[in-house]
Amino acid sequence: MPQQPVRIAPSILSADFAALGPEVEAVTRAGADWIHVDVMDGHFVPNLTVGPMVVKALRKHSTLPFDIHLMITPVDPLVPAYVDAGADVISFHPEAGPHVHRTIQLIKSFGKKAGLVLNPATPLAMVEPVLGDLDLVLVMSVNPGFGGQAFIDSQLAKIASLRKAIDALGKSIALEVDGGVNSETARRCVKAGADVLVAGTAVFQGGANKYAANIKALRG
Ligand code: DX5
Ligand code: ZN
Repeated sequence: MPQQPVRIAPSILSADFAALGPEVEAVTRAGADWIHVDVMDGHFVPNLTVGPMVVKALRKHSTLPFDIHLMITPVDPLVPAYVDAGADVISFHPEAGPHVHRTIQLIKSFGKKAGLVLNPATPLAMVEPVLGDLDLVLVMSVNPGFGGQAFIDSQLAKIASLRKAIDALGKSIALEVDGGVNSETARRCVKAGADVLVAGTAVFQGGANKYAANIKALRG
């Protein structure tokens, strides 16, 4: 399907972790489209964040879709727990396990949307054989693990190539970008063909009374 109107997915990695419920409520009120949750296991990436219990606890704080970015290995044993916690979209990295197609089917078997995440050094070819099975492709524009890193420009070409591939397929597949997205890089991502923008630092900077303006700035 062609590029859709841009959706903003604040990454709660940059929120106040001592007040995640109110933070999710605040970005929901401020006009976010999705809530992006970064799940890190301390060995697939060098950081450790939240498990399914936290996602479940947050679920009642927003009616927006929960976009769960799994940076964990293995993936399959934990998929049911994130489904049960209230995930709407579940994305994972192909490097996390040998059976990417099986994991996609597992996520979809629960009636959830499946996404595949490409690290900066992961080639487009990794997604091509399964593109038609996916609901979302997520291009990492930083190395996963931490918020506040600089956008890696070379990923714009990957976004543009994916835009062409998705349009050629004619299926409804979201094209999401994650990492270093601010009002300037957002514009370039959308120009390259992205239609979902994840942003942590750029949304949560300045405190809750800035969130609406921060989100608006990302829409360009
Ligand atoms: C990084 C995460 C991102 C991160 C983005 O591993 O996947 O979602 O929170 O943070 P910013 O927007 O600050 O680069
Ligand atoms: Zn993420």
